[in-house]
Amino acid sequence: MATPRRTQKQIAEKYQGNLGYYRKAHLWRSARFIASFLALSVGLAAIIAYQRRGDERFFNPGKLSAAHAALIEKCASCHDKSSLTDARLRPIKFQKVLSDRFHHGIAFDPIDKNCAACHLKQDKRIYDFHEPNVVKNRSCSVCHQEHRGPGPMKIVASAQCAACHDDRLTMAASALKGRQLDWTNFQRHPHPPHQIVFDLPRPVDGYTQVFPSFWDGHPEFQLKREPARDRDALKFNHERHFAPDIPIVGGKKLACNYCHQPDSEGRYNNQRITFAAQCQACHSLQFDPKNPELTLPHGNTTAVRGFLLSLPAHYAELAARKGITQPNEIKNFVTRQMLQLRARVHSGEDFEHQIFFTKDPYKPQLETEPRVRALFYGCALCHDVQPVAHEAPFIAKPIFVDRWMLRARFDHAKHQVDPNTLRPLACNECHHATRSRLTSDVLMPGIASCVTCHSPKGKVVAECLTCHSYHAPASLTAAETRLGQKAATARRQ
Ligand code: HEC
Ligand code: HEC
Ligand code: HEC
Ligand code: HEC
Ligand code: HEC
Ligand code: HEC
Ligand code: HEC
Ligand code: HEC
Ligand code: HEC
Ligand code: HEC
Repeated sequence: MATPRRTQKQIAEKYQGNLGYYRKAHLWRSARFIASFLALSVGLAAIIAYQRRGDERFFNPGKLSAAHAALIEKCASCHDKSSLTDARLRPIKFQKVLSDRFHHGIAFDPIDKNCAACHLKQDKRIYDFHEPNVVKNRSCSVCHQEHRGPGPMKIVASAQCAACHDDRLTMAASALKGRQLDWTNFQRHPHPPHQIVFDLPRPVDGYTQVFPSFWDGHPEFQLKREPARDRDALKFNHERHFAPDIPIVGGKKLACNYCHQPDSEGRYNNQRITFAAQCQACHSLQFDPKNPELTLPHGNTTAVRGFLLSLPAHYAELAARKGITQPNEIKNFVTRQMLQLRARVHSGEDFEHQIFFTKDPYKPQLETEPRVRALFYGCALCHDVQPVAHEAPFIAKPIFVDRWMLRARFDHAKHQVDPNTLRPLACNECHHATRSRLTSDVLMPGIASCVTCHSPKGKVVAECLTCHSYHAPASLTAAETRLGQKAATARRQ
């Protein structure tokens, strides 16, 4: 330590005779005092004045969002008024609010009740419901943050979903609770009645896997995980239809979009496949190689039967079409055709049986090339045909599924090009259809097909909300949802 040049005593001597200095008035000191006093008292006066006038904006911590801008004069529609601005600003109340905030943060519970109540009235919809086995609800205000500026509210962050979905204890408790609930009432993803949905049963422990993000641990889609089978009765072999011997149609090689045409919303099955539009060009249901002009009617076994029973009439009609006009010649034509048919089949029943129940009613056709063979196949090529005593056989109506993964969204229109290479995105990148031989194959993509793009590495958004929604739809009736609310314990965080 350096030795001081002057002792304490020497220093003190400097102030000798000036000991009252602090008691004397001084211009700067007075100014400071007056400024402080003014600031305090004007502040207090302002608080009191605003209190009296009732303009609560004084306490506003930030502008309300655009959606709630109309509530700017009605703070109390969200806030329990007394906790914010007591009619008289009593010190005890003020202290209590402060200490509350300090120790517990903002009390969301009363605010949430107001959000839910107004929105129930407003939208006729209950927002306090996600899934019936939720054990501890999140607060509305954690996900929808108010007072963050005048624009639209910020989009809900994935972290708010992960607060539950990435929490082992929460999800384990939910799995347990799910085992005790009757789930029949809780269809969080209803669909219009005309829409055919491929719905798998809920797993025993529900959808309670634990994961932080889409690209890290998100479960493989249930369809792939199980894996599911398509039980449609229509036989179809995608791979076969991409073989080299498949004929050209409409001047082009057979491609996905010959059969799967998107509607304006980018969905495919709203424009459902029909026999007439997608199969008939090659499978035209001819039955007589000598008279390829004649084809069986499609879509109704009774009509086919009727057609076969009145074959002579159809041959007569054909004769007329061929320009044969003399009744005698027409009769001869019909007789000749019936004879050549009978040379091949033993009887009418035999013929009918072949057409309905065998894939290839015309054995000789097997030597011809596939494109011609395809024209002549019987119903059983594509259908499971069941005999019915004394009646035409039964063929179940094929089912084309409209929605395969109801718990998420998908839009083909946004998946036309690869954003990284700007090249068109092939259907097969996701569907692998050209390798499928059976109708029962489910051609839906697995999660790996999505993560290539929807991840930080693929540079496409991968927030939970890109693909999912949170709230149950309005159509879940109040009674069902109240049940759910009761199931979800009231305590929030
Ligand atoms: C649409 C509902 C809504 C309206 C209207 C609203 N607030 Fe808020 N306010 C909230 C929510 C939610 C919070 C707590 C969470 C946050 O800060 O994001 C909050 C927090 C606050 C806070 C700080 C936390 C506290 O409780 O101590 C103050 C102060 C406040 N609001 C004042 C106002 C005033 C003044 C008005 C009227 C101009 C108003 N608010 C209108 C929803 C609302
Ligand atoms: C007094 C009634 C009322 C209260 C209370 C209220 N809201 Fe709203 N809220 C509305 C109205 C009205 C709209 C606008 C609806 C529209 O534009 O179609 C809205 C819109 C919204 C939206 C949609 C925002 C958007 O960008 O589309 C959300 C989210 C929302 N409110 C959440 C909340 C939350 C959370 C609370 C409680 C902190 C709350 N609301 C309290 C009436 C209310
Ligand atoms: C309060 C806890 C909680 C929060 C927060 C939460 N979830 Fe869930 N979620 C659950 C539980 C519990 C299940 C399981 C349901 C079951 O077992 O069938 C679930 C299931 C799901 C499912 C699959 C089941 C279905 O019917 O769709 C999706 C998708 C989902 N949540 C999306 C979200 C999204 C998106 C968010 C964020 C906006 C979110 N969750 C936030 C608790 C939560
Ligand atoms: C000749 C018509 C035809 C062509 C061409 C065709 N499909 Fe299909 N596709 C069908 C029929 C019929 C079904 C319904 C039966 C089934 O599920 O196999 C179907 C079903 C599908 C399904 C949903 C059903 C499931 O089981 O998952 C997808 C996805 C699909 N096709 C993709 C493709 C792709 C991709 C291509 C092009 C590589 C393609 N299809 C070419 C006729 C066709
Ligand atoms: C990025 C991946 C991806 C690409 C590329 C893609 N699909 Fe899909 N496709 C899907 C998903 C996911 C579904 C399931 C949607 C749902 O939940 O129903 C689907 C459903 C379908 C379905 C059955 C349901 C419906 O919407 O009709 C058909 C048929 C289909 N796709 C055909 C095609 C064809 C044809 C192409 C090429 C033009 C194609 N897809 C390109 C992912 C893709
Ligand atoms: C461009 C012509 C073409 C179109 C369109 C077409 N097919 Fe085919 N299909 C063929 C040919 C050629 C064969 C092979 C015939 C053979 O080898 O005997 C075939 C074979 C089949 C087979 C037998 C597959 C196997 O495993 O041997 C079935 C089933 C079938 N088609 C169903 C359909 C259905 C259903 C449609 C309409 C959705 C359809 N096809 C549309 C040309 C077509
Ligand atoms: C090349 C494949 C193919 C052959 C061969 C075929 N069908 Fe179909 N059939 C279809 C397809 C695809 C559908 C579904 C779309 C439609 O109804 O047009 C269908 C639908 C049907 C339906 C249900 C119609 C409804 O709306 O309820 C009946 C019944 C039917 N076929 C009968 C027959 C009969 C009878 C034959 C033989 C004469 C036959 N099909 C031959 C492909 C075929
Ligand atoms: C080749 C890259 C690529 C692949 C693979 C891909 N996506 Fe996308 N996806 C995109 C792009 C690009 C967008 C548009 C993002 C945007 O609008 O900001 C998008 C948007 C979406 C959206 C939002 C659609 C909307 O309505 O806004 C959903 C949902 C989605 N994808 C689901 C999927 C699913 C499920 C898969 C896997 C089966 C998948 N995607 C595979 C590139 C891809
Ligand atoms: C790119 C699209 C996409 C993103 C991003 C995404 N998911 Fe999914 N998620 C899906 C699809 C598709 C399914 C399958 C839906 C079905 O089977 O009906 C699914 C299924 C689920 C399931 C059910 C899981 C099961 O066990 O089958 C839950 C829970 C879920 N997602 C939650 C989330 C959460 C939380 C996030 C955000 C961290 C998220 N998802 C992000 C597309 C996405
Ligand atoms: C875990 C986060 C979360 C919680 C908690 C939450 N919401 Fe939402 N909310 C969302 C998401 C995400 C959306 C976007 C649409 C969707 O996914 O359903 C949304 C949309 C809304 C909308 C806009 C209307 C719509 O359907 O798009 C309103 C209003 C709303 N929420 C009100 C509430 C109210 C009131 C509460 C409390 C009872 C609440 N939310 C709790 C995540 C949440």
